[in-house]
Amino acid sequence: LLRRAAAAVSAKTRWVDDFPSAGVRFADLTPVFADGPTFAAVVAALAAAAPDAELVAGVDARGFLLGGGLARNLGVGVLAVRKAGKLPPPVQTVEYALEYGTAAIEIPADSETLRGRRVLVVDDVLATGGTLAATVQLLEQAGAEVVAVAVVTEIEALGGRARLEKHPLTAIVQI
Ligand code: PRP
Ligand code: MG
Repeated sequence: LLRRAAAAVSAKTRWVDDFPSAGVRFADLTPVFADGPTFAAVVAALAAAAPDAELVAGVDARGFLLGGGLARNLGVGVLAVRKAGKLPPPVQTVEYALEYGTAAIEIPADSETLRGRRVLVVDDVLATGGTLAATVQLLEQAGAEVVAVAVVTEIEALGGRARLEKHPLTAIVQI
């Protein structure tokens, strides 16, 4: 599953230099998601990372596309992990460092959705790992058990994998 998806992802990823800022090479997965067979292969490969997950958490914004697909594949529900300011109170928040300044992500502060549940976390790209490390922290604070983290593309040179510590990480493509 992983190998078939990797070939399709590599063929369809659009790399954009100096976006969103100088020196950054941006992985645009729009053509990956827009192609039916490729999207299906990606979803199947990532769902296999945690076949026993009870909930999928997708990270704002591009992780939402994957989150819905994975949840349907696994027959479970989906949770949107939002950028700060999008959800009504009460919320639970974790701040994390960006290259310049900080960002924050949020989930609803209700204990029932997450407490004791096995959660698969998904996003499109792992770069520095700041976003996914903060997401894992947020979900665990809410009582969830993060059983796996899954991404389409891992940018290895930025060292994000090390920030996810003991959580199993699946990446379809490593650059
Ligand atoms: C991008 C990407 C990941 C994150 C990876 O999202 O979609 O979520 O950055 O970077 P990191 O590993 O260094 O944290 P972005 O914040 O650009 O927002 P978007 O998904 O809403 O476009
Ligand atoms: Mg993102």
